[in-house]
Amino acid sequence: MKFRSVIAGCGSYLPERILTNDELSTKVETTDEWIASRTGIRQRHIAAEGELTSDLAYQAALKALEHAGKTADDLDMVILGTTTPDQTFPATATRVQAMLGMTRGIAFDLQAVCSGFIFSLSVADNFIRTGQAKTVLVIGAETFSRILDWEDRTTCVLFGDGAGAVILEAADTSGVDGEGERGILSTHLHSDGRFNDILYVDGGPSSTQTVGRVHMAGREVFRHAVVNLAGVVDEALTANGLSRTDIDWLVPHQANKRILDGTARKLGLAEDHVVVTVDRHANTSAASIPLALDEAVRDGRIRPGQLVLMEAMGGGLTWGAALVRW
Ligand code: ACO
Repeated sequence: MKFRSVIAGCGSYLPERILTNDELSTKVETTDEWIASRTGIRQRHIAAEGELTSDLAYQAALKALEHAGKTADDLDMVILGTTTPDQTFPATATRVQAMLGMTRGIAFDLQAVCSGFIFSLSVADNFIRTGQAKTVLVIGAETFSRILDWEDRTTCVLFGDGAGAVILEAADTSGVDGEGERGILSTHLHSDGRFNDILYVDGGPSSTQTVGRVHMAGREVFRHAVVNLAGVVDEALTANGLSRTDIDWLVPHQANKRILDGTARKLGLAEDHVVVTVDRHANTSAASIPLALDEAVRDGRIRPGQLVLMEAMGGGLTWGAALVRW
């Protein structure tokens, strides 16, 4: 039998509290104009005190399960892309597994920062293709607000909290005409550790025994993002014998409106074929793609049969893309 992963449902969750640029400008020396013109960001959601990454992930997972018409009993696996786990260990995914009432299957976290969702999707897809899992919950969830230096205006204005999830289901595509087209066509992952120090957190269990705070060389990251994303997008299209004009929707990691515009321009995609949430969510790291995907699926923009391209770059550096026939 030959299996392919089909996205059976999606869901997302944002914390209630909204922090606007104007409110932020009362805390650090910045303005709505500076933030909006450099990044496209107008506001972000911030998790309440005591609200953990697992809580956000759980809410998104419940919605994805409902959307897919499934229950936690159907799941074989939970993969959670996150950089802001509840604790150093155990994996936050195991906590979500327990919250969902799952008593079987496996759960683990995956750390690829802003590329965490694409990496998790790729791992899940490979488990399904090899027949080792049938139904997988893939989540991207972050409480990035917890690792920001709220006095550093160069980083604290860029990020937000949130979670998104999809349910992947194995579809037997052997000998089914046409059906083989649906689902994840391919995923493409990269990392290059030589650039660890342009985006990192200055803490961790084995180094400082503290959680640490985000540091970033913004311009360097920007430069790498534009080059790496264009490369991996072409790689994904070439692998499937497709061209740029075949893409119906670009669902990019929401780091910065200027990076999104740059990638769309390279692809020759009109603005209304790019799903944008960065204005309202800011950069939610591993959560940003499934949050954007959920929005565009639920409001009817993404429709069955369309070709959806997802791409992300993050700390590591890590980057990747996934092509999906919806
Ligand atoms: N408000 C007001 N002024 C600011 C702020 C702020 N929030 N932040 C920086 N500045 C100032 C700087 O201090 C500097 O002042 P100076 O010239 O007096 O020294 C000036 O603005 C210009 O700073 P730059 O860092 O050169 O500004 P730039 O135009 O490069 O924009 C930004 C910075 C938005 C971070 C940009 O480099 C960028 O988008 N980089 C990509 C980084 C990114 O998206 N990272 C997300 C994580 S990685 C990922 O997800 C892909």
